[in-house]
Amino acid sequence: MIKRIKVKKLLQAENDKNQVLVKGWVRTKRASKGFSFLEVNDGSCLKNVQIVVDSTVSNYSEVEKLTTGSAVSVSGLLVESIGGGQKWEIKAESVEILHLAPDTFPLQKKRHTDEFLRTIAHLRPRTNKYGATFRIRSELSHAVHQFFREHNFYYIHTPILTGSDCEGAGELFRVTTFDLNNIPKSNNKIDYQNDFFGKEANLTVSGQLSAEMFALALGDVYTFGPTFRAENSNTARHAAEFWMIEPEMAFCDLTQNIALAESLLKYLIHHILDHCDEDIELFSSFVDKQLRSTLTAIMESEFIKITYAEAIEILSKTKNRFEFPVEFGKDLQSEHERYLTETLFQKPVVIYNYPKQIKPFYMRLNDDNQTVAAMDVLVPRIGEIIGGSQREERLHVLETRMIENYLSLEDYWWYLDSRRFGSVPHSGFGLGFERLMMLITGISNIRDVIPFPRTPKNIEF
Ligand code: 4AD
Ligand code: MG
Repeated sequence: MIKRIKVKKLLQAENDKNQVLVKGWVRTKRASKGFSFLEVNDGSCLKNVQIVVDSTVSNYSEVEKLTTGSAVSVSGLLVESIGGGQKWEIKAESVEILHLAPDTFPLQKKRHTDEFLRTIAHLRPRTNKYGATFRIRSELSHAVHQFFREHNFYYIHTPILTGSDCEGAGELFRVTTFDLNNIPKSNNKIDYQNDFFGKEANLTVSGQLSAEMFALALGDVYTFGPTFRAENSNTARHAAEFWMIEPEMAFCDLTQNIALAESLLKYLIHHILDHCDEDIELFSSFVDKQLRSTLTAIMESEFIKITYAEAIEILSKTKNRFEFPVEFGKDLQSEHERYLTETLFQKPVVIYNYPKQIKPFYMRLNDDNQTVAAMDVLVPRIGEIIGGSQREERLHVLETRMIENYLSLEDYWWYLDSRRFGSVPHSGFGLGFERLMMLITGISNIRDVIPFPRTPKNIEF
């Protein structure tokens, strides 16, 4: 028995006349006199391999009935293809039909809309576009780990179940084993004592607080995992479950933090352009014709860096009409972010030093007592892709900020301990993995870069 070869490897062959075994799914079948041509895809790469089956093959009448979506195992000879379009094809010696798909298979040859494909998210990875998307997603994950390894960061697995709300935005998914029809209460309040953890528990919105504890022990660390937000915003850039890359660095200030964010983004884009050329070509031909030039520009340009106050000044002076007012102390809306990155600068923009009232408690208070050492990285088409800050390392300042934000110092005793014992300046950020995928592929909806998207009123599959 010869070993199965993946199509990706097979198409890189240098010599022909090799005996090969390929397994995959039939994309199309064409018949001509005495021959059938199968296009078989095994998911290893965008390209199909062409299989030529002649009528001498023992089960030829079965082969003639093969449908799109069927699964086959083909053994035969790898030969140079005479027809145009491909270098190699397989001259089949035997075709085993592993599964014959009925003609109700929804992915027939015509092109389908993304909206339709979302309704069959379990089958969409079998299309060219979604196959490419998820191969890139895999490569990008590896590149993230590679970057941090090259920079001597340690990878920390921070918990998914947590008792704290890192961002303080209250957008938490509650975790409980209570019978929802019979929730124990005392004094009209939920009595968590008999719940699984004996206290309120949630899915994490960020691994940051845990990562900080490890940065203050191992130096440079990162987490890369799923996070959950019960934000009821049905936009193309928000998901209820998404993945975040969160580096955290001891002895690091805001400037160094911004520099790491910039080099990480450039590295990841570079890596994908180097390793996923064929899949990227599909996106730059069919999804966003400017994709390659946008990505190259990001890699080659130095990011613009302006303070929040400067951004507000720029935005209030422009003739551009915005739906939402621009005002110091208010969060920037996506129309403002897009104006800065797409219209004005046409490259990534880092905005730093935000007013403290619109940012979480853990960000370091600046000497003006009004702003914190926060930074957001905005990119064309997406808006905010990274959010981070230098952390407040001074115990008293941190406690004051927490009290202002109605957080219980008792609940966060362990977090505050890190400022009691060996507290040092440290910084970190969160890069939204799906937003990064959107940037790199040109795909405009977050639902299409994650295998099974979770959004308000949607948890099918
Ligand atoms: O700006 P955020 O909320 O920052 C934090 O969570 C910090 N604790 C990170 C840190 O400093 N370690 O989120 C970081 C990034 C955003 O810039 C965005 O890219 C992404 O996470 N993000 C989302 N992506 C998809 N769907 C959502 N609902 C998202 N919310 C945030
Ligand atoms: Mg943010």
